[in-house]
Amino acid sequence: MRTLEVALAERSYPIHIGAGLLDSFPLAEQVRGNQVMIVTNETIAPLYLDRLTAQCSGLQCDTLILPDGEKFKNLNTLETLFDALMAKRHSRTTTLIALGGGVVGDMVGFAAACYQRGVDFIQVPTTLLAQVDSSVGGKTAVNHPRGKNMIGAFHQPRLVLIDTDVLATLPERELAAGYAEVVKYGLIRDPAFYRWLETNNDRLLSREPEALSEAIYRSCENKAQVVAEDETEQGNRALLNLGHTFGHAMETATGYTHWLHGEAVAAGMVMAVHMSARLGWLGPELESKLSTLLTTWKLPVTAPEGMTPEQFMDLMALDKKVQNGQLRLVLLRQLGEAVVTADYDPRALRQTLEAFCGV
Ligand code: NAD
Ligand code: GLY
Repeated sequence: MRTLEVALAERSYPIHIGAGLLDSFPLAEQVRGNQVMIVTNETIAPLYLDRLTAQCSGLQCDTLILPDGEKFKNLNTLETLFDALMAKRHSRTTTLIALGGGVVGDMVGFAAACYQRGVDFIQVPTTLLAQVDSSVGGKTAVNHPRGKNMIGAFHQPRLVLIDTDVLATLPERELAAGYAEVVKYGLIRDPAFYRWLETNNDRLLSREPEALSEAIYRSCENKAQVVAEDETEQGNRALLNLGHTFGHAMETATGYTHWLHGEAVAAGMVMAVHMSARLGWLGPELESKLSTLLTTWKLPVTAPEGMTPEQFMDLMALDKKVQNGQLRLVLLRQLGEAVVTADYDPRALRQTLEAFCGV
């Protein structure tokens, strides 16, 4: 087992990473009270729930199995969770445990932020995306019909437990979507890691456990550093959004049914790199190398068919990074050095959108 720390003074917590931790990590010892509620979904429960409940003997251990899917990441599902906590008389010293991907993790985290004005929670992420991104950093939320992740809170977990073995059952497309976020860390702040990813791509594609474990460790290390420096995204945490402004526009334009989030991020990162090159900040090589790398994972590297530059502009105007009417974008000054800026030539943005929409 390898351990990292998210250093946030009294809210600091460890991230434990290792094979087989669901069976071997003494989870009950990390719980402050004597009650836990493990929340998961109907896909993950038959695979892993028993193994986690076995770690909680000696505690009042209740479980809740939610339906699977982003469309259930809403206030109605949260209500079901609060009902279960009340029915089983969970007190302020209870601990909620999220066993699942980012959907379960974000929802359970937000429930923990709200229940009795805040209780402990533990993340046990089971997708690559959740292991390298969403389980670390305390962003929690549910969706509103008018917008994704619009109702939420910053609430840090007490512990993140990453069992790398669970990736064995993850569908290929979900693994690739998580891989896009892994590449992101290399691009924005860790060029040595980016090169490591290029060199070890075949090992990662074939799910070699040591390679996956190293990629997860180095991703979490980067994320933990960013979060420790800027917990509530007043500054550099926004750099984690490389490719996301373009990506969100593509997700919205395609009704959230065409592409997974990580797939849209993949194409969005290529667009951000392309635009950085148009601005003269990067040479052309990175875009072609990145596209080649992402394509080996069957990730998209261009805009969805039929999408227009005008559609992009309309949708990007709603981005959370818009300030005083100006669209700030995460761009690369060079490999490993990202900036969030509105100080770019708008023609480079327009030309980028045209190039990716095939206009
Ligand atoms: P997800 O939670 O929907 O999981 C993807 C699919 O994989 C689901 O069907 C799930 O049941 C299944 N699954 C999970 N683990 C499995 C396993 N080990 N074996 C087999 N199947 C498994 O999707 P996700 O990509 O993990 O998360 C996406 C969510 O994360 C979005 O809601 C997004 O907003 C959120 N997110 C949050 C943050 C954050 O910082 N909080 C960051 C990025 C994304
Ligand atoms: N996933 C972006 C963040 O945690 O800030």
